[in-house]
Amino acid sequence: MSEIQDAVRERYAAKALQMAPRRVGGSQALSCSLSAADLEVRRAEWKELDKAALVSREDRAGTVTSTYRASAEVRTELERLVAAERVCCATARWELHDDGERLHVTVASESGACCEDDCGGGEYSASELASVGINATSSLGCGNPMLLADLRPGERVLDLGSGAGLDVLLSARRVAPDGHAYGVDMTDEMLAVARANQAKAGVANATFLKGTIEQIPLSDGTVDVVISNCVINLAADKRAVLREAHRVLRRGGRFAVADMVALAELPNEVKRSLDQWAGCVAGTISIDLYTAALRDAGFKAIDVEVTREVRLDGVDGAIASAYIRARKE
Ligand SMILES: C[S@@+](CC[C@H](N)C(=O)[O-])C[C@H]1O[C@@H](n2cnc3c(N)ncnc32)[C@H](O)[C@@H]1O
Repeated sequence: MSEIQDAVRERYAAKALQMAPRRVGGSQALSCSLSAADLEVRRAEWKELDKAALVSREDRAGTVTSTYRASAEVRTELERLVAAERVCCATARWELHDDGERLHVTVASESGACCEDDCGGGEYSASELASVGINATSSLGCGNPMLLADLRPGERVLDLGSGAGLDVLLSARRVAPDGHAYGVDMTDEMLAVARANQAKAGVANATFLKGTIEQIPLSDGTVDVVISNCVINLAADKRAVLREAHRVLRRGGRFAVADMVALAELPNEVKRSLDQWAGCVAGTISIDLYTAALRDAGFKAIDVEVTREVRLDGVDGAIASAYIRARKE
């Protein structure tokens, strides 16, 4: 398996663990796409832990070290919070060390503690979310494929990189009662969150499959629509993904995808960063390359609509979310 796929899987396995219901208390803690309210919750969680177990905090040469009294409970909570912060921002450098007596959390202060934007953030109405009983923070996407997929009852839909399952469950509702929605994801932890969300939503006409989007575990011509939300940019071999999407679509089937695209050449150090790849930045390709890859895979009626430029340090204005439509003849 490629280094890129390893980095992506590791990032989303950690995110899935944060999405799973917490063992203590009832709220869901998510590091990225934090709303102001969620950020408040995150800060309150750190404060609560500091109050209970912080021994000292010092800032030396730009690295802040916080030392906590060791106990199983403190360790569990620190592991959760550090994992949340670590995956939050491509530039954040968080570490947790256990010396037997004390737990030490270090973060390079200039690296940024918590970013509020990762792979973008979906765009869902309150009523859509209510229909499956899932919080918007379950989306790690960069748009809402429902807005372009024009799903109808009876259709079969496939979501590439289904994450926590929001788009699959929304699709399943739209194609019910006779249609079916499939989600494919390579990360076991994400599949577990998606299946738990499915059970909570009580959606029967959906199936989450383990697999990669470079080798989709479905037969030729089995779906009417392929959707995806901020995943194809993460694939090392995008041409393989687009060929597979074309293969599993029936003739006349639709490709309706939200993804990140590059509007300008990215700096070399960004392109080389696995973290930035897993954060939906370094793997982006230009609209021209995306269009050519779709055409080479056999798609027609290709349309790429840029919806939002992304403002991030180092790549300001160089990447954007886009809606990508195409059709299999
Ligand atoms: C940015 S998240 C998006 C999740 C979901 N589409 C959403 O909108 O919330 C990327 C997801 O795609 C999955 N993924 C990334 N690359 C993949 C690949 N090559 N094959 C299968 N799944 C992949 C990850 O495990 C993760 O769940």
